[in-house]
Amino acid sequence: MSESILRVENVTMQFGGVVAVDNLSIEVNKGEIVSIIGPNGAGKTTCFNVITGVYAPTNGAVYFADEKVIENHPQGKMKTMYKGQNAGKYTSVATPTPDRITNLGIARTFQNIRLWKSQTVFENVLIAKHMRRSSNLITAALHLNAKEERAMRDEADHLLEILNLQDVRNEPATSLPYGQQRRLEIARAMATHPKLLLLDEPAAGMNPQETKELTEFIARIRDEFGLTILMIEHHMDLVMDISDRIYVLDFGRPIAQGIPSEVQNNPDVIAAYLGVEEEEDA
Ligand SMILES: Nc1ncnc2c1ncn2[C@@H]1O[C@H](COP(=O)(O)OP(=O)(O)OP(=O)(O)O)[C@@H](O)[C@H]1O
Ligand SMILES: [Mg+2]
Repeated sequence: MSESILRVENVTMQFGGVVAVDNLSIEVNKGEIVSIIGPNGAGKTTCFNVITGVYAPTNGAVYFADEKVIENHPQGKMKTMYKGQNAGKYTSVATPTPDRITNLGIARTFQNIRLWKSQTVFENVLIAKHMRRSSNLITAALHLNAKEERAMRDEADHLLEILNLQDVRNEPATSLPYGQQRRLEIARAMATHPKLLLLDEPAAGMNPQETKELTEFIARIRDEFGLTILMIEHHMDLVMDISDRIYVLDFGRPIAQGIPSEVQNNPDVIAAYLGVEEEEDA
């Protein structure tokens, strides 16, 4: 039996009258690479923002390793504005902060790269490691003894090696070309020792060669670190190559799911993508 690591259950995220995610259920099993695809504005990033505690969902629940970590139901004005389903099914409220989600073992990268701009490549990874120990950077640094500090630095260097970023170790993060910045974001996310890694368009802005290398790299870290990966991506070659399963979203709703060959030939998916094929990386 496959073991569930993440379960998004009937999640609706409504911004005022806009339903960005509509009664979405997603299950990811330990060790899988699962992709979420769908046209621009389909609600993919919003789904990540709910899982990582950036937004409390309007309704629904999220389970991580069988523990219910997020739950909410329409409250206040939203009681009357709510357009989603399953109203009344969820009653308690649990809306953890992004810090707490990181500490549980979920890390992410962002669609719009967010690196510490003035820091070097190495420092970006090291700071992420410190933050994992304590949400307060100063206390974290003060409480480390020399041995722990050494171990953290070695680990940071090891991650840079794996991501093939050693050559640019001492460069300012933002001086790197786009593809390398994306890889650095992954290194930084890995620095928090996640069990589940969420990648939001990791290949955006990459050329075909970089995309191919990234595909191999993602499969490699899954195996080497025993990771589970949930990925949003528009590059269909990458998605079809690497995914164990795929969810297709359109207007916040899942319109198809399955193994790559099933999804590729699904008429609803083809219809949702008609006319948007040229918009890669938008
Ligand atoms: N904070 C917010 N406030 C209001 N509306 C929002 C907010 N965040 C997202 N939305 C809306 O929710 C919908 C889904 O957006 P989202 O960013 O999740 O799409 P996406 O599938 O990631 O698209 P893309 O492929 O372009 O990244 C859009 O209509 C967007 O405008
Ligand atoms: Mg997005």
